[in-house]
Amino acid sequence: MKFEEFYKRFKLDHDVVQKTGFNPYYPVIQSGLDDYIIIEGNKYIDLASNNYLGLANDWRVKKACLAAVEKYGVSLCATPIASGYSELYYRVEQKLTKFVGLESAIIYPSCYQANNGLFPAIAGKEDIAIIDRSAHSSLIEGIRSAGCKIWPFLHNNLDYLEKILKKISGYRQVFVVTESVFSTEGDIAPFKEIVELCEKYNAFPVIDDSHGIGVIGKNGKGILEYAGLKDFQGIFTTSLGKSLANSGGIICGRKSLIDYLRYYSSHLVYSTSLPTSSLAGIEIVLEIIEQEFSELSKKMWFSKRTISDALRDSGFDLTDSITPITSIKSGDPVKTISLAKELFNNNILTTPFVYPSVQYNEGRIRLIAGAKLSESTIDRATEIIKSLKR
Ligand SMILES: Cc1ncc(COP(=O)(O)O)c(C=O)c1O
Repeated sequence: MKFEEFYKRFKLDHDVVQKTGFNPYYPVIQSGLDDYIIIEGNKYIDLASNNYLGLANDWRVKKACLAAVEKYGVSLCATPIASGYSELYYRVEQKLTKFVGLESAIIYPSCYQANNGLFPAIAGKEDIAIIDRSAHSSLIEGIRSAGCKIWPFLHNNLDYLEKILKKISGYRQVFVVTESVFSTEGDIAPFKEIVELCEKYNAFPVIDDSHGIGVIGKNGKGILEYAGLKDFQGIFTTSLGKSLANSGGIICGRKSLIDYLRYYSSHLVYSTSLPTSSLAGIEIVLEIIEQEFSELSKKMWFSKRTISDALRDSGFDLTDSITPITSIKSGDPVKTISLAKELFNNNILTTPFVYPSVQYNEGRIRLIAGAKLSESTIDRATEIIKSLKR
């Protein structure tokens, strides 16, 4: 194939952007996540980021990150298995392990990488993964690249899951894979019941708690605390880039598994370590959550309720979210992007999801009103929402 021919293949579909006159993706942000964020010199209310507890621009976190930069520089320029494993890395692993409440944890450069790296290290073509059809792309891609059979089950549907578990036989390992808080809908997996089904059918539960950690559970410890799972024997993954306000991802579970991954998970072994400044930020955020979760979560829930009520009162059709995620059912891609544009033109930044991230006619506009938003900003957001009445 000639160069020209090769590059011609990579054409973007501009149809929706042309019809709506708006491209909501890759906005160039010119500030930190404050009460407002700046885009092209204008102030926007941030209902887009996953900064649930509002700690991404907290001065204590910034100070800890800066202190780590002073001590270790900006990078150790090595993978963890070589010389990228700092004392801070070790310490944060211990603290995350304790926070989640499992035996051991290992930190990947991102949760996408953790989910991608997990399955190729532990599964193969003799295995099957039964996965919630709404689960995150990183889990699906990870399973696919492991080469094991993949069988989607209807979203949060325990009967359907049990039917599959009853039907299958002859596999070496059976994994049941799901998210805790679903990132587009804001609903929560019936995970206690899923674990019970796994025990009944000798399957192995894998949970991605990226939108649950620091958000659900009495003390913000995530899905295991929320579901009352004290002796969880499965695998737990989470992003450190949402309520923990940084970057990176972890896999947690039994020590033998985590030690195995340290040597056999290519996505970890061959990738440069998370910078120590990030690790320092995560360390202090864990302390802040331990001490201030009750106060921070009150603010987060207040913001969530106020925004959801305003949207509902204004006639928007919302998903049945029981978490700080509020999602508008916005229809096809043109309707979804048009609504995102209307909000943007009124200085509210949101996250629109269109096909193929969701089904074609099931677009979503996700709004996350985190703990950082002041009451006056929330008031302003509700005024705007009311002015856009459906
Ligand atoms: C459910 C879920 N899992 C994994 C990820 C990936 O996390 P990270 O950003 O740490 O790679 C995301 C991020 O969008 C997510 O929503």
